[in-house]
Amino acid sequence: MKTPIYYFSGTGNCLKIARELADELGDAEVISIAKAAKSKVDVAAERIGIVFPVYALNMPAILFDFISKMEADASKYIFGVMTYADVGGDALIQLARELRRKGLKLSAGFGIRMPGNYTPFYGAIPVEKQLLFFNAAHKRIVEEIAPAIREGRIHKIERSKFPLNLLTWALYPLVLPMTPSEDKKFWADERCNGCGICQKVCPVDNIRLQDGRPSWKHRCVQCFACLQWCPTQALQFGKSTKGRKRYHHPEAVLQDFINSERGNSAAD
Ligand SMILES: Cc1cc2nc3c(=O)[nH]c(=O)nc-3n(C[C@H](O)[C@H](O)[C@H](O)COP(=O)(O)O)c2cc1C
Ligand code: SF4
Ligand code: SF4
Repeated sequence: MKTPIYYFSGTGNCLKIARELADELGDAEVISIAKAAKSKVDVAAERIGIVFPVYALNMPAILFDFISKMEADASKYIFGVMTYADVGGDALIQLARELRRKGLKLSAGFGIRMPGNYTPFYGAIPVEKQLLFFNAAHKRIVEEIAPAIREGRIHKIERSKFPLNLLTWALYPLVLPMTPSEDKKFWADERCNGCGICQKVCPVDNIRLQDGRPSWKHRCVQCFACLQWCPTQALQFGKSTKGRKRYHHPEAVLQDFINSERGNSAAD
């Protein structure tokens, strides 16, 4: 049976890692969590992968929802990969905990550093530096991660060093309740042409165009796909993102992120 590798991704880092793992493992299928989380998650396979980005040292909110839809079966070999820019904290430990609550077990957890995409804090790093991250990630997947998974090895759940890891748990009570309405900081400047791409890439259908301008519905998961994929760089978050270089993985294409075919005149 094929190994499903479930991924969540706003800008392609996790999608790329999931694809590389699938290539290395063979007979694997890369599946979007944004799409899978809409119904019951089929966990019939013996080996299952979960790849996600770290947000504020935590798992993305959508992961909690996704895991709640998995069926209990402690016999599965589940591996997790978190991608992060600087500090991943205890996000994989959090994944292990959520799986345990569902009667599932995380057998291996790997943290991979990738270019950051949190534009409120920084712009995209130069391409040469991005390549260093991609090459290091590829090497690790080929030499260490894929072989461990192939052999079904129990591998330590990677985490940031103490005391940085504790930030995950310090932020946890704040992050999840605040995330849905953080979208009130998004706005579109005068370059918005009403193309509707922000609406189409949103994994949780949180954007509507009203009179040709995006508005946010407060069920955001903070993936930043809307801001990063806006073709005119009109989309801003707070005061600091204007003029900052946008980021997406160079091998990711817009089509990979289209979650909704909703037309650009839709409103509700
Ligand atoms: C809302 C948000 C919060 C983030 N928080 C962190 C963080 O706490 N630590 C970190 O190292 N990277 C953080 N990042 C960076 C992402 O984890 C990283 O760039 C990831 O590889 C993006 O994956 P993607 O391209 O698949 O979306 C954050 C990104 C976003 C959008
Ligand atoms: S993607 Fe950008 S230009 Fe297109 S509707 Fe959204 S904000 Fe406007
Ligand atoms: S509104 Fe933007 S940041 Fe929020 S979930 Fe949708 S695409 Fe992601």
